Amino acid sequence: MKILITGGCGFVGSNIAIFLKKRLKNVNVRTLDNLFRKGSKINRLRLKKFGIKNYNFDIKNYKKIAGLSKFDLIIDCCAEPAIELSHREPDRVFNTNLIGTFNVLKKCLKDNANIIFLSSSRVYSIPVLRKIIKKKNISKPIKSRTKINENFDTSSPSSLYGFTKLGSEKLIQEFSFMSNIKYIINRFGVIAGPWQFGKQDQGFVSMWVARHMFKNKLSYIGFGGHGNQIRDIIHIDDVCKIILIQIKQIKNKNNNIFNIGGGIKNSISLRDLTSKCIKLTGNKLSITKIKKTSKFDIPYFVTDNTKIEKIYKWKPMKNIKNILDDINYWLLNNPKIRKYFK
Ligand SMILES: NC(=O)c1ccc[n+]([C@@H]2O[C@H](COP(=O)([O-])OP(=O)(O)OC[C@H]3O[C@@H](n4cnc5c(N)ncnc54)[C@H](O)[C@@H]3O)[C@@H](O)[C@H]2O)c1
Repeated sequence: MKILITGGCGFVGSNIAIFLKKRLKNVNVRTLDNLFRKGSKINRLRLKKFGIKNYNFDIKNYKKIAGLSKFDLIIDCCAEPAIELSHREPDRVFNTNLIGTFNVLKKCLKDNANIIFLSSSRVYSIPVLRKIIKKKNISKPIKSRTKINENFDTSSPSSLYGFTKLGSEKLIQEFSFMSNIKYIINRFGVIAGPWQFGKQDQGFVSMWVARHMFKNKLSYIGFGGHGNQIRDIIHIDDVCKIILIQIKQIKNKNNNIFNIGGGIKNSISLRDLTSKCIKLTGNKLSITKIKKTSKFDIPYFVTDNTKIEKIYKWKPMKNIKNILDDINYWLLNNPKIRKYFK
């Protein structure tokens, strides 16, 4: 089987590429990545060690994509995943996220290939998500146990990033409707783990651990600046495992949309994340408060995994301690990556 992973030198794509190379016999894995993201060059070196070739060009260039050899499956992990940035650089984000998926689909059509798409929990409507926790100044810990499933509202704004992911999902469904392309759309919540070069507006878990380890600055941003906002977190290893299961079963289980995340057990506030990072690194930072909330931020997201667990008999195995320990181990054992977290 020949698999192309777009965005394959990114955090998710590189981990999936190496995992598949290790776990699947007779597989030929290739990646497409223009190395735009800080840290992607390092991931590319990891791929090289496993004999995985990267096509280094922009995904908006369909001519080059069409010129690649034939693939059986494309795993589309290519995106600019930062939400705030999607409003500062809409042209690049539309080209990468939306035109990128369009080009991937044209290649699927040409090759008669299937697609697994890395979508996001951020396709859901911000105004409706905001109704779960109505307070703008969240001064006390959130007690909600609400879980968000695939039927949650997507009809009102979700950020330009969210729009490009939802738009890509619609494109995939259109292409599948007009052809034999089989698809799986996975709307992931926060993914974390080693080889994520996290930054303020994307990949906050690895950034939180790294900033503690290297004694850099941190801020609680929005909702009054108390750090009480909550997210559920899934370990990258659990993501790789469900993708492998989906690949093996795609002939029979396809054309479906799933929410996938850490779930209630793996949900945590920034404040609690700080406590865990202090324990892990022995370093306590003085974290500044930025009270103002971005229009595109949400106070709470916890995934309802009911559908994915039922259909694939899979569930996330790694807890928050495992996630933080693995990031900590990775940072300690790779001193050269320190500069990426400054
Ligand atoms: N990380 C998460 O928490 C998370 C959560 C939900 C969904 N997702 C989705 O998963 C996918 C992977 O996310 P990630 O965290 O690995 O992001 P990432 O930024 O680490 O990886 C994306 C990769 O795409 C490459 N890229 C960017 N623009 C490109 C272009 N124009 N042409 C070619 N390559 C380009 C980057 O260099 C990078 O290596 C994305 O589609 C994202 O929307 C991620």
